[in-house]
Amino acid sequence: MFKVSSIFATAVLSVASFSAIADEVNIYTTREPGLIQPLLDEFTKDTGIKANTVFVKDGLTERVSSEGANSPADVLMTVDIGRLLDVVDAGLTQEIVSPELEEHVPAAFKDPNKHWYALSLRDRIVYVSKDLDLTEMTYEDLADPKYKGKLCSRSGQHPYNTSLIAAKIAHDGVEAAEEWLKGLKNNLARKAAGGDREGARDILAGICDVAIGNAYYVGRMKNAEPGTDQYQWGEAINVIRPTFENSKSKGTHANITGAAIAKNAPNPENALKLLDFLISEKGQSMYAKSNYEYPVRAGVELDPVVASFGDLVIDDLHILEIAKHRQEASELVDKVGYDQ
Ligand SMILES: [Fe+2]
Repeated sequence: MFKVSSIFATAVLSVASFSAIADEVNIYTTREPGLIQPLLDEFTKDTGIKANTVFVKDGLTERVSSEGANSPADVLMTVDIGRLLDVVDAGLTQEIVSPELEEHVPAAFKDPNKHWYALSLRDRIVYVSKDLDLTEMTYEDLADPKYKGKLCSRSGQHPYNTSLIAAKIAHDGVEAAEEWLKGLKNNLARKAAGGDREGARDILAGICDVAIGNAYYVGRMKNAEPGTDQYQWGEAINVIRPTFENSKSKGTHANITGAAIAKNAPNPENALKLLDFLISEKGQSMYAKSNYEYPVRAGVELDPVVASFGDLVIDDLHILEIAKHRQEASELVDKVGYDQ
């Protein structure tokens, strides 16, 4: 896996910026590899560094931990703050020294100890039936009995939802969050299951009027081939970016995708180059246009569908403050029988 001979490496050093070096970086990711592949291809084109991905759906921490000093992992990339903190808290990462990341990732979305940085934002919004005359709402509104039998949601235990519930706990405490979650549970039109897009599907089918989902799925659905199921689901809904009643910024809850560099990374310099690419204007615009995620870097052009939702105002809570409550959130989901 690490085949660059010293002779070859020396020979190409002087023209490193002009020619491809047979060099690589290994990425362990909980992301669907298809979603980041276009970014990695572009990175390889720019740098000559081959990017190998290992898709680790579950058990990233256990895997890197058991590989120990011989782990080939350079970059650990996750779709959720919880999973990112798991690898950091397990001592499997190292400090990242990158002026680029420091400059372009806002304070609320990076580790004060520089072991991880967010690379994109995933706002958790409400899909609303086009038949409803609704343009704004709070997350608390979703618990209003007027939506009884009208709300669709995926499992409460999915990290997208535990993160949202953790944010409610961070704002108002566990008891208030429990009341709210009970209200949501009482409003469910069907069992909390499936993915976010099924919320749009079920709005089209008339099963629910409102559904909780991530914004980037709307980008995917509305940009799908006309005539396909996904396109029709996307066309059945409008989008509202809700806020928590007690949000000081009156902003929307957002989770992150982010990355760390593995403690035993065999190619730490290439790992750094990859992260710097991902936070570059080009990398960030690819996140925005091929994944429909919201860039963490300011001033990056958005996909037109996502741009049509307006500027994203984010809830004022630091993501670490939210993440602290994810265990309590998971317990509440069981306690109110959200998934039953
Ligand atoms: Fe997703």
